Amino acid sequence: MTMMKKLHMTVAVLALSTTAAAAQEVEVLHWWTSGGEAAAVGTLRDTLAAGGIGWQDMPVAGGGGSDAMTVLRARVTAGDAPTAVQMLGFSIQDWAAEGALANLDSLAADQGWADVVPAALQRFSTYDGSWVAAPVNVHSTNWVWANTALMAELGITQPTSWEEFVAAMETAKAAGYTALAHGGQAWQEATMFDSMVMGAGGPDFYQAAMVDLDPAALGSDTMVEAFDRMATLRSYVDDNFSGRDWNLATAMVINGDALFQIMGDWAKGEFVNAGMTAGNEFQCFRVPGTEGTVTFNSDQFAMFNVADESDQASQLAMASAVMSPEFQVTFNLVKGSVPARTDIPSDQFDACGQLGMAQLAEAAASGGLFGSMAHGHANTPSVQNAMYDVITAHFNGEYDAATAAAELVTAVEIAQ
Ligand code: GAL
Repeated sequence: MTMMKKLHMTVAVLALSTTAAAAQEVEVLHWWTSGGEAAAVGTLRDTLAAGGIGWQDMPVAGGGGSDAMTVLRARVTAGDAPTAVQMLGFSIQDWAAEGALANLDSLAADQGWADVVPAALQRFSTYDGSWVAAPVNVHSTNWVWANTALMAELGITQPTSWEEFVAAMETAKAAGYTALAHGGQAWQEATMFDSMVMGAGGPDFYQAAMVDLDPAALGSDTMVEAFDRMATLRSYVDDNFSGRDWNLATAMVINGDALFQIMGDWAKGEFVNAGMTAGNEFQCFRVPGTEGTVTFNSDQFAMFNVADESDQASQLAMASAVMSPEFQVTFNLVKGSVPARTDIPSDQFDACGQLGMAQLAEAAASGGLFGSMAHGHANTPSVQNAMYDVITAHFNGEYDAATAAAELVTAVEIAQ
């Protein structure tokens, strides 16, 4: 047999065994497309590969996941649901209510998920008493990300009040820097709005307005103050903010072109991916005015009902991998979030991760933990989208603050 023939045969055998292995496969729909996010996806793909489960990637770009959810709806309507889907809060509940999600109860019972997943997350992972999703992390939205060298150059120390935060941005602007890195997309404005509402009104107000949707709170002077703060933020972004992706805004802070970014801790994934270390080249602190509170979101994997038994086995293998303590460390170190499980020691995490874990536990114990409106954990997708529209219209100068608060009342009423 010639060398060439031998080689062909070897490749054919290899291809056969690859086909056999690929029969165990998950198709995963997600919106993790930035550098840090893609690295985090890589840890999941590698973990599954080590267990013989193949990965068919279905990325849909767009932070916050609205575009991914649109694609998901189209796929399910066409009778072609992906096996697993990255999903947030109330969306999980909506799909579960439609009967579209696989029941994970027996795996959850075997692995004791109920003992290690906090109640605030179980509220979204379970529907009608049954597990329908596996939470991989907890993110929070009320963070500021800062470039340490630029802070030092400008003589800025960590601001501890809204006034100090604005003064720091003023200093950066006066020195010719972009004070606030921002991408003009509705979900990014909504992400900042979570913190402006919390900062202007405190926890009870956040609960009344964003969770209970009380019209009196939504239309209040305090809400006008939250919109005023958004207008202040607007005055510190650069001229090219419109449409910019969030990770490009993070890159402005990484590169020292901008001082701050208000963003969830997926931004940390970008700093880490750029080889920077928390507490050294970059800083994290809670948005001034929101200290003691955490507005959170949790990425969970929901498994869609599929008929094929091998697909069902792959789904369970994926859910099991997602919930393993080792994987929750590996993944979250890269992603910037903290583990969904409460039984993971924090010592392997960097300064921001350790702070995040401690503050999450404190906020949960003191009643300071709230679902993020911007990321689907405060109210339903339709209310969330209605809020997005008003917030972004105001940010772009369509409404003044008083009109925006009044519009919020109306938009939320219509959306319910
Ligand atoms: C959030 C999601 C995060 C992060 C972010 C930006 O909604 O929970 O994991 O990916 O969007 O894409």
